[in-house]
Amino acid sequence: MIQTSVLAALLAASLITSPAASHGQQVASERDTASHLINGYEPKWWKEAVVYQIYPRSFQDSNGDGIGDLKGITQHLDYLQKLGVNVIWLSPHFASPNADNGYDISDYRAIMADFGTMADFDAMLAGIKQRHMRLIIDLVANHTSDEHKWFVESRSSKDNPYRDFYFWRPGKTGPDGKLEPHNNYRSVFSGSAWQFDPKTNEYYLHYFAVKQPDLNWDNPKVRQEVFSIMRFWLDKGVDGFRMDVIPIISKQPGMPDLTPEQLKNEFAVFAAGPHRDEYLQQMNREVLSKYNDMSVGEAAGITLAQEPELVDDRRHELNEIFNFDAVRVNRRGRKVEPLVLTDLKAIYTNHEKVLGKHDWDTVFLSNHDNPRIVSTFGDDSPEFRVASAKLFEAMILTLKGTPYLFQGDELGMTNYPFKTISDYNDIEAKNAWKDEVETRHTLSADQYLAELRGSSRDNARTPMQWTNGPNAGFTTASAKPWLAVNPNYTSINAAQETPDPNSVYNYTRQLIALRAQTPAFVYGGFKDLDPNHPQIFVYTRTLNGDQYLIIHNFSSQPIDYTLPDNMKAGTMLLANYSSHENSSTILHLKGWESRIYKQ
Ligand code: NOJ
Ligand code: CA
Repeated sequence: MIQTSVLAALLAASLITSPAASHGQQVASERDTASHLINGYEPKWWKEAVVYQIYPRSFQDSNGDGIGDLKGITQHLDYLQKLGVNVIWLSPHFASPNADNGYDISDYRAIMADFGTMADFDAMLAGIKQRHMRLIIDLVANHTSDEHKWFVESRSSKDNPYRDFYFWRPGKTGPDGKLEPHNNYRSVFSGSAWQFDPKTNEYYLHYFAVKQPDLNWDNPKVRQEVFSIMRFWLDKGVDGFRMDVIPIISKQPGMPDLTPEQLKNEFAVFAAGPHRDEYLQQMNREVLSKYNDMSVGEAAGITLAQEPELVDDRRHELNEIFNFDAVRVNRRGRKVEPLVLTDLKAIYTNHEKVLGKHDWDTVFLSNHDNPRIVSTFGDDSPEFRVASAKLFEAMILTLKGTPYLFQGDELGMTNYPFKTISDYNDIEAKNAWKDEVETRHTLSADQYLAELRGSSRDNARTPMQWTNGPNAGFTTASAKPWLAVNPNYTSINAAQETPDPNSVYNYTRQLIALRAQTPAFVYGGFKDLDPNHPQIFVYTRTLNGDQYLIIHNFSSQPIDYTLPDNMKAGTMLLANYSSHENSSTILHLKGWESRIYKQ
């Protein structure tokens, strides 16, 4: 049962920034007076949103070539609307030679041929708007593809007008007399971050793949080009951007060698360029502030303490960022270790402490760069997959910050049973295999594959499981999907889950509906009631006297849990088992049980 009184009060105060009131127009409540604040926070549509990430290559193939496409997305808009999400984040849909699955863009104003046409994009966007949802797209502007016309020009000669769009350095003579790159930066995708180009006998900088040269944001023309691309898409009607590795756009002056200590965390240095905030403020002033949009930065290299530097609304940079503390909590390099619940809980408490009323957070445990939630943090065995998948959806949708769900999370999709290196597509995995296993022999093949299996980005990129038919309904029966479908599609798929009231899909739908009607889940305070408990995560969300208690059992072991301070649980609103334990102090929780109470 949902508390309708709260919703009524909220609507009366017109604090929900509805899509109808969105473009160009500020709702009355957003005027600059203290009285319109909710628990000290400025109300914004993007704070109230539930975002669903689509990785277009893996969502739905509409033409039988084995690759997901924009028409495929349009076919499933009703599914998304029914789920209740109201913002879609689309991973890159731009023209690209696909060295890094679209994160290497060769034309920012064209659609990737595999994904369709601009008409398909416009139809998809219209369909999204008709259903009162919004669209944010992926702005990948730290680097382009080496096939982008700017880079083609840039590499053609030292005096080409585009030369200074990228970072070119002559290199230096090493101790053995051979030419070496300018410095010791390592690429995220293995090897040096510098690539020698015989055409002009210089090296160019690429933090990622050789085919992803870094743009030189110190060149004001580069910034104007990026801003113009942003306006192009905003004028088309998109509602904002997820910004790829945005904190690393400002490079260190002179780019000296990193110290051995700095090499352990290169991104901390990359993200601390002297002009980072100046460039983001210029972007905000010249572009973002002119639209009713949202911006979320992928904040590689930014610590929680630094987060306000990017998101404090008085600084006029970004609305929110992705901080990876939670996603990485049980990761040691490539290895996934058992989750230590107290570590995870401490992260949320720290966020509550460090982020103030002018900041805003994101909550997520998955995306296209990370393995599946239920396999990484939960229990994907047949006995507990559904319960633990529901628990994590409940946690993400009741913590403070804009929640981000990745496609397939709502079905409880799991990691893929990868066996050999040829099962993988990801450039990061393949390059690291060549470097660590084949060239430097720092790891045996078996060790490498064992580590990769749990953390590979490809776990998230296997096709969406729509039906129990051939290829899970992702593509036609005779097509070969670009990445193999998880064999468990026969039992985990949308066709089975959408009509099943007990499915992960329908639980997620209920959670989203509850959140939409409960401002305490958006703006309310957060308090962990028992931070040291190794198995239970129990917290409250409180707004103007309305208090909710959320409790999760992070274990397959049942537990009789006594709430602290003789507290009573209250009235149950939602649970992932059919429990009826109202008003009690002692809660009898089954394995991976999760409940939401109104107190
Ligand atoms: C972060 C993106 O999320 C990832 O998929 C990509 O490989 C790198 N940035 C490079 O663009
Ligand atoms: Ca296709």
